[in-house]
Amino acid sequence: MERDIVRLKRVDSTNNEAARIIAHEGRGEQFYVIADYQEYGRGQADHGWVSEPGENLLLSKVIFPAFLSVSEQFLLSKAVSLSIRDLLNEFSISALIKWPNDILTSSGKIAGILIENSLTGRQISHSIVGVGLNVLQKKYPVFPHPATSMALEMGREPVLSAVETAIMAHMEKRYNQLEKGESDHLSGEYLEALFRLNEDSWFSDGKHEFRGMITGVNRFGELEIKTGQGIHSFGFHQVRMIH
Ligand code: BTN
Repeated sequence: MERDIVRLKRVDSTNNEAARIIAHEGRGEQFYVIADYQEYGRGQADHGWVSEPGENLLLSKVIFPAFLSVSEQFLLSKAVSLSIRDLLNEFSISALIKWPNDILTSSGKIAGILIENSLTGRQISHSIVGVGLNVLQKKYPVFPHPATSMALEMGREPVLSAVETAIMAHMEKRYNQLEKGESDHLSGEYLEALFRLNEDSWFSDGKHEFRGMITGVNRFGELEIKTGQGIHSFGFHQVRMIH
C-alpha cells in the first residue's frame, strides 16, 4: 500500500509540522509525519514528550473524519489506543489503556497519544493524531510515573522500521472500523482493555481525594467513576488517578 509519509530528521513537533502542512498546502488526503527527533515534543496538559534521537516512534497522522460529529470525537482516541495495543500484541507485549491517552504495560508507560482536532461547526474537519511510542530507548529521565519501551519489555530490540510499518497498518485497520460504523464493537474492546476497570482506586479532582471504581467511559469520552455517592463522570483534566 502506497502511503504519503513526510520524513524528517529533526522537527519541533510532528503535530506542529502536520498543522503547518495543512495550513500551507491545504491537503485533503490523509498523510503521516514521522521524525527521528523532536525539539519540543508535546504531550497532554502542556507536558513535553522527550525521546532520544532515532530510538522511538514519533508519528503524526492527519485524517479527515468528516463522518464523526464533535460529540463523538473520543471514538478516535479509542481507535488509536486500540491500534497501539494491537501493535504491541503483535510483538507479544501485553498493554492496557489508561484513560484518556496513555498506554501502559505492567512496568510503565510505553506510549502516549495527543489528538488535536479542528472543528467546522459540529463536524471534525481534520484531526492530527500524534503518537509517541517508546521502541528502543532503555533509559528514561525520572518521571512521576515510570516509562518503558518495547526493547525493555521484549528483552531484545525490535526493528524500528518494522514497528513503524506495523503501527500504520493497525491505525488504518482501526480507523476503517470506525468509518464502517463499528463504534460499538470498538467501544467494547476499549472497555476490556481499560486500566483499573472495576478495581478500587484513589482519585483526585484537584480539590479532593476520593476512593472509587472506574466503571467505563461514556460516549462523550468522560471517565465514569462509581463512588459511595453514585456514578460521576469526569472530562479530560478533571480527574486523575493517584493510586
Ligand atoms: C502524552 O502522553 O502526554 C501524549 C504524548 C504524545 C507524543 C507524540 S510524539 C509525536 C507527536 N508529536 C508531538 O509533539 N506529540 C505527539
